[in-house]
Amino acid sequence: MRRLVAGTGWKMNNGIADSIRYAEELRSRIAGLDTSAIDIYVLPPFTSLATAANAFAGSPVAVGGQNMHWDDSGSWTGEISASMLLETGCRYVELAHSERLQHFGETYEAVRRKVDKAMSVGLIPIVCLGETAQEKADGRADEVLADQLLTSIDGQPDERVPEIILAYEPRWAIGAAEAASPEYVEERHRALRTILRKHCGEEIAERTRIIYGGSVTPENGRDILDIKDVDGLFVGRAAWKPEGFARIVELVSDAAKRKQAA
Ligand code: 13P
Repeated sequence: MRRLVAGTGWKMNNGIADSIRYAEELRSRIAGLDTSAIDIYVLPPFTSLATAANAFAGSPVAVGGQNMHWDDSGSWTGEISASMLLETGCRYVELAHSERLQHFGETYEAVRRKVDKAMSVGLIPIVCLGETAQEKADGRADEVLADQLLTSIDGQPDERVPEIILAYEPRWAIGAAEAASPEYVEERHRALRTILRKHCGEEIAERTRIIYGGSVTPENGRDILDIKDVDGLFVGRAAWKPEGFARIVELVSDAAKRKQAA
C-alpha cells in the first residue's frame, strides 16, 4: 500500500508574515483530522523556508524547496544547494516544475543531477513530468513522459526509485481553467507505472508514488484520487489559502481510508 500525498507549491506567494499566518491556520484546521496515513508537504519560496519549517514543527506538515542546484557550493550566483535546504528544515525538494522548464530553461539532464544530489543528502525529490499541449496533440505524451522519467532516474539504483515522488503534471493543465479529465489522468498514470515496471521491475513500480498536479481543486480532487494509480494531489492556486489546502488534506486522508479498505 503506497502512502498517499497531499502537497502544495506556493510558487512566488507567501512571504514570512503570510507563511506564519498560513501555518497557524492550517494547523488548526487539520488538527481534528486523522492524517497519520498520508504525507503532507508545503513548498514555500526560499525566503520563507526557515520560518515555515519552524511554524510547522511538531505538525504533520513538512516543508520543501521549489528548486535547488546540483552542486554542493561554489560560483553559482542566485542558486541554493541541497544542504542549504536541509539546513532550513526542508524534507522535500521539487524539481522540473513546468514553470522552471518553460521560463528558466531547466532541462531533464539538469534534473537528473539534482535528483542525484538531493538523494545523496537525504532530501525527497518530487520530480514533475508532463507533456506540452503540442506533444499531447501529436499523440506523443507517453513517449515524452518515458523520456523525462528515465532521464531523471538515470544512474539511480532501482531500489532507491521508490524514495522519489513522481508528479504527473500535464503542462497544459497547470494554471489552467480545468484539470485533465480523470480518464486522461488514469491513462497517463498507468503508462508511467508501466514504464517503471519495464525498467525497474514490478515490485519497484508498485511501491513508487505517482501524484497528480494541474488545476486540482477541492471539487475535482476526489474523482482524481479514486483512480487506482494516483497516489496523491499536488496543488497550486486552490491551496494558496490554508482553508483550500485543509480541504485537500481532508480529501487525501479520506481517499487513503477508501484505498486501504479496498
Ligand atoms: P495549479 O493547481 O495552480 O494549476 O498549479 C499546479 C502546480 O503547479 C503544481 O505543481
